Amino acid sequence: MPLDRKPVRLDPRLTWFSGVHRLLSPMAGVTDRPFRDICRRFGADMGFCEFASASGLTYGGEATWKLVDTEGEDALVGVQIFGNDPGHMAGAARLLGDRRMDVLDINFGCPAKKVVKKCGGSALLADVPLLERIVKAVVESSAVPVTAKIRTGWDEDSVNYREVGLLLQELGMGWVTMHGRTRSQKFSGQADWDRIADLVETLDIPVIGNGDVVDGASYRAMVEHTRCHGVMIGRGAIGNPWIFAEMTAVDEDREAPSIPFAEMCEVTCDHIRGEVAQRGENQGCLVVRKHIARTFRGYPGAAALRKELYAAPDSSTMMAILTEAGALGDPRLMGVAVGEDDAGESGDQGGIRGGSAD
Ligand SMILES: Cc1cc2nc3c(=O)[nH]c(=O)nc-3n(C[C@H](O)[C@H](O)[C@H](O)COP(=O)(O)O)c2cc1C
Repeated sequence: MPLDRKPVRLDPRLTWFSGVHRLLSPMAGVTDRPFRDICRRFGADMGFCEFASASGLTYGGEATWKLVDTEGEDALVGVQIFGNDPGHMAGAARLLGDRRMDVLDINFGCPAKKVVKKCGGSALLADVPLLERIVKAVVESSAVPVTAKIRTGWDEDSVNYREVGLLLQELGMGWVTMHGRTRSQKFSGQADWDRIADLVETLDIPVIGNGDVVDGASYRAMVEHTRCHGVMIGRGAIGNPWIFAEMTAVDEDREAPSIPFAEMCEVTCDHIRGEVAQRGENQGCLVVRKHIARTFRGYPGAAALRKELYAAPDSSTMMAILTEAGALGDPRLMGVAVGEDDAGESGDQGGIRGGSAD
């Protein structure tokens, strides 16, 4: 059965968005160009850069500008900024004017202390007048349509996604993405899909649902529950870009393909090559190791394979291990005891967040 989505009103500059349903969330330290490209290979319609501080962009911080890694990107991509100063936010939007991007997204969801302390990210949900000034400043300064990503509110006593959503719609946002948790929940508990459904009903523009979609079945369940236009995938894509193949199968009403182990190894090698080319040997290996914590889930022997990969001194050794494992077809054939796996590293963020963003 095809998924039933609520019809939406689109900004005339966003007609291409009518067919966009599977989005890769912005994730700090994760959704750089190499990973966005890999997710698209498996069916992600659109990706987002890691969030970038508007002040960092305004003051020309080299590390911040590196996060806007979209040059020559031949596919739908959004850049996301955060900050609490309307002047800096507008300045960043202007400076980004010549960068390759399809939308500029504003982060109103980050729960991280270092961001909310300066009244950025989700702290703006508790200061709607400032949020409004920021949105107006960015809309006036941006060369591309502006979108926003929110949480349901600051805390359970101040849930205000309806008020904020309606304001964002009135201020000209192309769409609103909502992570179905409050700021004080951070990543605990369950994302509240009832609230996402309510926002979908409340707004005419597209609402993108976000929170706790981890496979094709939960993708179907979220769209059926909320009728949202699209779904953004965060943690479910880390080490698991094939989630987008499962989602595509749901959209096309067919069986999900099973990704062969050898292909997972090959894709991981491609990821290593991409990260090393973009971030250099050490940083590149570090980034891929975070993904590996969640790759090869369910394969007997995967824990031992991961251990070998973590111990590998450099990217060439990692790729050699993966090539051998892929050729053998199954980690068990590497002489690893069956039964050692294996759900990957568990924990809320699978060891990847390090107190970063939302
Ligand atoms: C490591 C990590 C980094 C994140 N960085 C960002 C970010 O830069 N911008 C943002 O809007 N959300 C960020 N988020 C939040 C995700 O985009 C998403 O809203 C959240 O993880 C809930 O979705 P999920 O259940 O699919 O993971 C981050 C999440 C994680 C785990």
